[in-house]
Formats: sequence, structure tokens, C-alpha cells
Amino acid sequence: MFLREVSLDGVGTDVALWQELEGDVGCVVWDAAIVLTKFLEVNSLKFSTDAGKSLINGRTVLELGSGTGCVGLAAAIMGASKVTITDLPEFLSLMEKNITENGERLGCPVEARELSWGNEEQIRGFHEPDVVLVADCIYYEQSLEPLVSTLHKLCGPDTTVLLSYEERTTGNKPQLQRKFFEMMDEHFRSEKIALEEQHELFRCEDIHIYKFSRR
Ligand SMILES: C[S@@+](CC[C@H](N)C(=O)[O-])C[C@H]1O[C@@H](n2cnc3c(N)ncnc32)[C@H](O)[C@@H]1O
Repeated sequence: MFLREVSLDGVGTDVALWQELEGDVGCVVWDAAIVLTKFLEVNSLKFSTDAGKSLINGRTVLELGSGTGCVGLAAAIMGASKVTITDLPEFLSLMEKNITENGERLGCPVEARELSWGNEEQIRGFHEPDVVLVADCIYYEQSLEPLVSTLHKLCGPDTTVLLSYEERTTGNKPQLQRKFFEMMDEHFRSEKIALEEQHELFRCEDIHIYKFSRR
């Protein structure tokens, strides 16, 4: 295993992430997760003095398909009130190791839990979160519909989904991405986050961030 530190300059610390040398896609940090993390860094500071609700500060956060847990752990460092990072069962130990690694830096309770998209019983075990984070999960044909239905069931009228993904042009990826947005459109309003609103260095034309809320 090897340790990667993603700097959170805006809040004066790092998020430290153990990654595996070999394994399934979730065992390393993906670029879309870095872009979303750095977007949160810029915006958690911007909104932290608002009288109203901020994006992350004081909010309950649930991350789907967390892998190493980069985005959710960063949210816990940046003022969330409670964070749950989730993935398939084989990633639980990696997520737990990364919670432990960031111990003192975490500003709120963080829990790693299994959430396999589409699993109704597991979904019922989660409280409606204020914010759902999803990085680079529009990837698998067989899990597209379960991902959308999981988001639909988890989110209430006040939940904000922040989703990042890397635009891929090979194989069936363009169709998958199009289909994902068509399915989301049935239940959610969407807003694309402009590049100018993102971190000035950690942004990229090929990595998109969307904000969704229930229709
Ligand atoms: C490309 S990785 C992204 C990991 C992490 N979000 C990041 O960006 O660094 C996709 C993640 O989705 C998870 N995933 C895939 N299918 C899933 C399913 N049916 N239920 C839950 N998680 C799933 C994988 O285990 C993996 O961690």
C-alpha cells in the first residue's frame, strides 16, 4: 500500500489516503475525486460565513462509491457535521483504514458502511442526508440504473447531490453518460458547475461537476 496526501491548502491541512498497489477501481483516488474535493475546498470557505446553510459546513454528508473515501473525508475535515462513506463490502477495510489515518483531522464523526447501489434494505438504513457526494461512478452499464434509483431513494427535497465524473470517449462510455443524465432528469433538476467556480488549478475541461436536487 502507499499513502497519498491531497492538500487542502484552503483549510491548512491534508487528507491522507492509503491506496492499494493492486485491486479493483476503487482502491486508488481518481482525478474526478480530486477535482470535487478541491471544489469543496474553495466553496466550503466561501460559504462558511453565510448566515444560511453552507454547502458542507454543519451538513450531514453521504458519499457513494467512495473507494478510498477522499471526498467524504475531506468534507469531514472541512466542517461537515457527520459523514458516511460507502462502497461495496470489499472496500470497507480500506475506508476504515483511511478514517483512522485522518483521525485527529476529522472534525466530525465519520463512518464507513456498505452501500451496494440498488440494495433496498441497505438504502432504508440511511437517514436522508443534506449532501450526497459521488465521484467518478458513471462507469458501469449494469450499475447505472441502481445508482440512479439509489440517489432517488436517498435524497429528500432538501438534499443536494454533488457529482463529478471524467468524460470518457472510448467504448460505450459516451452512451452511458448520456443515459445517466436522461435517467437523472426524470427525478432531479441539474446544474452544471462552471469551471470558473472550481479550484483554479485543480479543474479540467474533461472533468465535470454537476449539482442535482429533487424535482
Ligand atoms: C472509479 S471508482 C471511484 C472511486 C472514488 N469515488 C474516487 O473517485 O476516487 C468507482 C467506485 O464505485 C464503486 N462501485 C461500483 N459499483 C458499485 C455498486 N454497484 N455499488 C456500490 N459501489 C459501487 C466501486 O467499488 C468504486 O469504488
